[in-house]
Amino acid sequence: MAEVKKIAVIAGDGIGPEVVAEAEKVLKKTEEVFGYKFETEHGLFGGIAIDETGTPLPQDTLEICRRADAVLLGAVGGPKWDNNPKELRPETGLLGIRKELGLFSNIRPAVIFDCLKDASTLKPEVLEGTDLIVVRELTGGIYFGDKFRREGEHGEEAVDTCVYNVQEVERIVRQAFEIARTRRKKLASVDKANVLETSRLWRETVNRIAPDYPDVELEHVLVDNCAMQLLRRPSSFDVIVTENMFGDILSDEAAMLTGSIGMLSSASLGEGSFGLYEPVHGSAPDIAGQGISNPIATILSVALMFRLTFGYHEAAAAIENAVKEVLDAGHRTGDIAVDKSRAIGTVEMGDLIVAAIRK
Ligand code: IPM
Ligand code: MG
Repeated sequence: MAEVKKIAVIAGDGIGPEVVAEAEKVLKKTEEVFGYKFETEHGLFGGIAIDETGTPLPQDTLEICRRADAVLLGAVGGPKWDNNPKELRPETGLLGIRKELGLFSNIRPAVIFDCLKDASTLKPEVLEGTDLIVVRELTGGIYFGDKFRREGEHGEEAVDTCVYNVQEVERIVRQAFEIARTRRKKLASVDKANVLETSRLWRETVNRIAPDYPDVELEHVLVDNCAMQLLRRPSSFDVIVTENMFGDILSDEAAMLTGSIGMLSSASLGEGSFGLYEPVHGSAPDIAGQGISNPIATILSVALMFRLTFGYHEAAAAIENAVKEVLDAGHRTGDIAVDKSRAIGTVEMGDLIVAAIRK
């Protein structure tokens, strides 16, 4: 019998629960088809956790995650909690879970699905062949540096500090080099070394370890230039590695190149095989509860989990093929449909994909 894999399931807010429900159907189907055994444990997280327990990241949820081999996350946040104080914001839970679980690396692939080329705002000839990954440092930088308010000469001031040490830079950059090795062997390291001290340390560190990866072609790109090049020559990028906030911004830009943010999955990894997997899109409170959200990004997050945490490559491919088959047959949820009147719902899309999963 297959080894039991434990998966912590954290549906969160907005469309989170509905897209996660479809991903759980996919898990179940792969148990039947491939003989795997999954044990899922559900935890509260984000806004719903604030409402029910008074904190966005309850201790219980953290323990469920720590007991698990991998975490499947939906999405968190919504207008209801937007004006809450910092400790009572869903985003604070998200930063907390990343830090607590040591998930220092965030991997966000942006690939063009051929049948969805028209969904992008860029010209098809610019997009042709785009297949890139943003590797974002996730537990350092300005997100986690000291923050405070103080009285200055001209009234109240706010301070956010950006700190990186060599070890933090080195582990993420090495991981990015390793990923590049499995792909087209090109790495773009993005920084603002013409201005920021943290970026100068970043660049020095990259240059110091680059000789260990002579097979990977390295370029340094300043972040503002990178934002521009992503629109001008997206297909020339393979792996982009960068610090936390630059990665936050560039990964949204990269996701939008594809025109189908509802299709993109992401992984947050630490040392070892443990990982947290989630769609790139957010909780979309405007369409929550209507059954019209696109479950594909979350379903593809399961495929990513299979590949990166469990090494279940055959089943991962089966999920990806099922998604492709359903799209090729013309089925679309509203976000990716050209003819919105023929769009199908969340559950219908999930059912079609589940039905298409085979050995
Ligand atoms: C993301 C999000 C988060 C981030 C927010 C919600 C805190 O934008 O995962 O990219 O900035 O990291
Ligand atoms: Mg973001």
